[in-house]
Amino acid sequence: MNITMAVDLKLVLFFTLMSTLVTISLQQEQPVLSSAEQDSVYRVLSSINSAIPWRTLFPDDLCSYPPHGVVCDYFTDPTTKNVTVHVTELSFGYVSDFTPNPPCSPNSTFSPLLITSFKHLRKLFFYQCFTGTQAFVPEIPTTFGSSLEELVFIGNPAFVGHLSGIIRNFTSLRRLVLTGNGIYGSIPDAIGDLVNVEEITLSRNKLSGKVSVSLSKLKKLKVLDLSSNGFNGNVPCSVGNLTELLKLDLSSNGFSGKIPESLSNLQALEFLDLSFNRFGNFGVPLFLSGMPRLKEVHLSGNLLGGEIPEIWENLGGVLGIGFSNMGLVGEIPASMGVHLRNMSYLSLENNKLQGKVPKEFGFLEFVNEINLENNNLSGRLPFSANFTARVGEKLRLKGNPELCVDEKLSFLKLKKCIKPDIPKPVLFVGASHSGILSPSFLVLLHFWGLFIVLV
Ligand SMILES: *[C@@H]1O[C@H](CO)[C@@H](O)[C@H](O)[C@H]1NC(C)=O
Ligand SMILES: *[C@@H]1O[C@H](CO)[C@@H](O)[C@H](O)[C@H]1NC(C)=O
Ligand SMILES: *[C@@H]1O[C@H](CO)[C@@H](O)[C@H](O)[C@H]1NC(C)=O
Ligand SMILES: *[C@@H]1O[C@H](CO)[C@@H](O)[C@H](O)[C@H]1NC(C)=O
Ligand SMILES: *[C@@H]1O[C@H](CO)[C@@H](O)[C@H](O)[C@H]1NC(C)=O
Ligand SMILES: *[C@@H]1O[C@H](CO)[C@@H](O)[C@H](O)[C@H]1NC(C)=O
Ligand SMILES: *[C@@H]1O[C@H](CO)[C@@H](O)[C@H](O)[C@H]1NC(C)=O
Repeated sequence: MNITMAVDLKLVLFFTLMSTLVTISLQQEQPVLSSAEQDSVYRVLSSINSAIPWRTLFPDDLCSYPPHGVVCDYFTDPTTKNVTVHVTELSFGYVSDFTPNPPCSPNSTFSPLLITSFKHLRKLFFYQCFTGTQAFVPEIPTTFGSSLEELVFIGNPAFVGHLSGIIRNFTSLRRLVLTGNGIYGSIPDAIGDLVNVEEITLSRNKLSGKVSVSLSKLKKLKVLDLSSNGFNGNVPCSVGNLTELLKLDLSSNGFSGKIPESLSNLQALEFLDLSFNRFGNFGVPLFLSGMPRLKEVHLSGNLLGGEIPEIWENLGGVLGIGFSNMGLVGEIPASMGVHLRNMSYLSLENNKLQGKVPKEFGFLEFVNEINLENNNLSGRLPFSANFTARVGEKLRLKGNPELCVDEKLSFLKLKKCIKPDIPKPVLFVGASHSGILSPSFLVLLHFWGLFIVLV
C-alpha cells in the first residue's frame, strides 16, 4: 500500500513538474538558479571532493543540468507570480550505480554554506562522506531548516558533534537519520520540537545519558531506533505514548530496570528489539501477548529470567524471536510451535531450558534458523529428516548432552536414542483449531508413519 502511494506521489510530482515546465516555457524564459546559489553549490561540491573540476564538468545552469544528487524545484511568489528556482535536495556520497551521488574524498569537510545558502532545502543526505579528516557541524542558527524534511547522515565516522548542536526547530522534518557517525551527547529536550517527524534513527553513534521524555511528544513517530549507543537508565514510561510506532529498537545500550508496561499501548508495533541491555530479572513481558502486529521480538542478552510464558495465541504473524542469553528456565512451550506457524527464525540458545523440544516445531513450514544450543534439553529430537535437511546448518543443537536422535538423523552428531520411537497414544483434547490440519493431527500422522516403518 505504501509503495503504491509512493509511486502515485512520484507520478503526481513528475506531472506537476512537467506541467510547470510547459507553462513556464510557454509564458516566459525558464528561470535559472541565481548565480549566488549556483556558486554555493560549486563550493559545497568542492568541499566534498576538490579533485573533481565541478565548474568545468557542469558549466551550465545547475538546475537544468545538475550532477546527480543536486535537485531543484520551482517556487511561485504568491503576490508577484514571479517564478524562481532553488536547490531543494543535496545528496553526497556514492551509494551505487543507481544512486551515483558525488563521491566524497577522505578529507571532505562540512561547508557552512550548507547551512546558510539554501533557504529551500528539503533534503540533506551524506553517505560515507566524512571518513578521514574530522568534520564538525558548524553552529546551526535557529532560523535554519524550516523547510527541511529529511536530514540523513549514514556511515560518517569522522562527522563529530554534540547532538544538541544538530537538532533545531525543524518543524517540517519527517526523517532524522543519523546512523554510524561520531555524534555524542544526550538527546536534547528540543527533540520535542520535531512535531512532524516520523522516523528518528540515531543508531551506532556515541550517544549517552537517559532518554528525554520529550520524545513522547512526537505523536507521528513510526520508527525509533537508538540502537548501539551508550544510553542508560530506565526506558521512560512515556515511550508508550508513541502509539504510531511500527519499529522500536533500543538494542545494545545500557538500559536497565523493568521494561515498561506502557509499551503495551504500542498496538501497531511490528518490530521490537530490546536485546543486549541490562533489563532486570522481571521475566519475559506478558504484554507481548497483546501486540497483534508483532513480526519480530528480540530480548536476547538481558537476564530477564523465568519461564517462556504462554503468550503466543494471538501472535501468529511473528517471524523472528531472539530469546538467547536470558537466563530462561523451564520447558519450551509447545504453544509456540502451535501458534507461530509463520516463524522463520528462533533463537533460544544459552539459557537453562530443559525438557523436550516440542514436536510442533517439526511442522513449522517456514523455519530457516533454529538455535537451541547450550541449554539442558533432553529426549528424542522430534524432527524429520526432511525438516532437518531443509534447515541444514542453521539447526543448532550442541551443548544439550541429553538430547538424542534416531539413526536417520545420525549426521547431526548427537547421541543415539536408546529406546525406539514408539508413540504413546495421542488424545485429541479440544480440537480448537479452525485450520484444516491441526498440529496434533499432523503429529499423529507422523507417528503412524514411523510406527509402520518400525513394525
Ligand atoms: C584533499 O586532499 C587532496 C590531496 O590528497 C588535496 O588536493 C585537496 O585539496 C584536499 N581537499 C580538501 C577539501 O581539503
Ligand atoms: C523575479 O525574481 C528574480 C529573482 O529574485 C528577480 O531578479 C526578478 O527581478 C524578479 N522579477 C520580477 C518581475 O519581479
Ligand atoms: C518553531 O518554529 C515554529 C514555526 O516555524 C514556531 O511557531 C515555534 O514558535 C518555534 N519554536 C521554537 C521553540 O523556536
Ligand atoms: C504519556 O505517558 C505518561 C506515562 O505513561 C502518561 O502519564 C501521560 O498522560 C501520557 N501523556 C500523553 C500526552 O498521552
Ligand atoms: C502467515 O503468512 C502468510 C503468507 O505470508 C500470511 O498470508 C498469513 O496472514 C500469515 N499468518 C498470520 C497469522 O499472520
Ligand atoms: C538438566 O535437566 C535435568 C532433568 O532433565 C535435571 O535433573 C538437571 O538438574 C538439569 N541440569 C542442570 C544443570 O540444570
Ligand atoms: C522428503 O524429501 C524427499 C526428497 O526431497 C521427498 O521425495 C519426500 O516426499 C519428502 N517427504 C516428506 C514427508 O515431505
